[in-house]
Amino acid sequence: MADTLTITDNRTGKQYDVPIAEGTIRAMDLRQIKASPDDFGLMTYDPAFQNTASCRSSITFIDGDKGILEYRGYPIDQLAEHSTYLETAALILNGELPNTAELDAWSREITLHTMLHENIKKFMEGFQYDAHPMGIFLSTVGALSTIYPDAKDITNAETRRLQISRLIAKVPSIAAYAFRHSIGRPYVYPDNDLSFTGNFLNMLFKMTELKYRPHPVLERALDVLFILHADHEQNCSTSAMRSIGSSQADPYASLAGAAAALYGPLHGGANEAVLHMLKEIGSVANVPAFIARVKGGDGRLMGFGHRVYKSYDPRARIIKQTADLVFDVTGRNPLTDIALELERIALEDEYFVSRKLYPNVDFYSGLIYQAMGFPLDMFPVLFAIPRTAGWLAQWDEMLRDADQKIARPRQIYIGAARRDYVPRATRG
Ligand code: CMC
Repeated sequence: MADTLTITDNRTGKQYDVPIAEGTIRAMDLRQIKASPDDFGLMTYDPAFQNTASCRSSITFIDGDKGILEYRGYPIDQLAEHSTYLETAALILNGELPNTAELDAWSREITLHTMLHENIKKFMEGFQYDAHPMGIFLSTVGALSTIYPDAKDITNAETRRLQISRLIAKVPSIAAYAFRHSIGRPYVYPDNDLSFTGNFLNMLFKMTELKYRPHPVLERALDVLFILHADHEQNCSTSAMRSIGSSQADPYASLAGAAAALYGPLHGGANEAVLHMLKEIGSVANVPAFIARVKGGDGRLMGFGHRVYKSYDPRARIIKQTADLVFDVTGRNPLTDIALELERIALEDEYFVSRKLYPNVDFYSGLIYQAMGFPLDMFPVLFAIPRTAGWLAQWDEMLRDADQKIARPRQIYIGAARRDYVPRATRG
């Protein structure tokens, strides 16, 4: 029988035919497999969802063995070469590349929403001067939920669109305010004459000049980095976004949760961790000793390895090329030599080769950010800004998917069997 899986339950001798569609069986089809009539039915055990598809999605395609990444079918290298972040965000959200009129309207729409409510500014002033910008970022995104109660109407497509525009437009403003707050500089209001990334650089770095003019190479480099980070299918933060959103929480609350998931050093916090690691290594001469330590189980080579990519991350390749363009303007980041030597040794070393550990998106991005003048703790925030488009596209897709319900995994209970309460006085 084609496209079915025949399962024999050796506990009962019964056979079951389970349909296979899109290379997948439905976990719920296993529920009919019971050892006795009062049995709950068979479940799958898959901690960290290593082999479980939680949704069907038409946004991003990854082939981890071949190192392929496509948004809506377009290869990432073509988008990085020809597109802009805002155009790519429109593609991810709508499924098609916008025509000129659509792109103009979309850019205007985003420009209209770049300002933050003055109360949000006051809210941000309450953070300690040395607060981590990612903590400020995710808290402030959550706080937007209180400013836009209309966002709760998540079943209304038009309302969802409005929140999507607001969020994509406001995340750079929040990020820039968090940065200025941490260094004690006054906030800079958006300049709507500038491009998305040009305005972001303006809000970050403008001093007393009347008009901030971003360096075109740095503006474009940041745009390319934003394109590369815009979506990456069902990673930890996107799963958090979908999971929180599945309870019908508003998009600000859901996105705050997604940003919190991104904060961790195994995910979007890795770019910051890479730079700390390179600083700790200190010189090319110390690289072999560091590699030996990692192989001995003491720490990880940050910026290496990926759950899905078992070959060179295509984004890392493009970032490496972008780094050269940026360093022509800013001067070479002196930590680059340590990174190149780490990569050279790791790509030849049996430990890394046999585990298929290659540089990921975070290995070189931090070197660029640092050369551009960003402090290390801003790096995860720079990941969160473009990923906002992906999170929202996935959230919107989830809400339109009739297969989806509130996310609620099962567990295998391994705790104590039923027992009676023991009064405190008689406990041992
Ligand atoms: N350095 C040294 N060993 C590693 C590394 C690493 N970076 N990554 C994985 N391994 C080893 C791991 O110890 C294990 O070895 P063994 O089989 O002997 O126990 C094997 O490789 C498989 O690792 P795993 O932890 O089962 O793999 P995973 O798929 O659960 O983890 C990962 C993926 C990205 C969390 C992991 O590779 C890692 O911690 N990398 C460093 C952090 C990092 O760079 N994160 C950014 C990921 S890309 C950006 C994004 O999040 O989208």
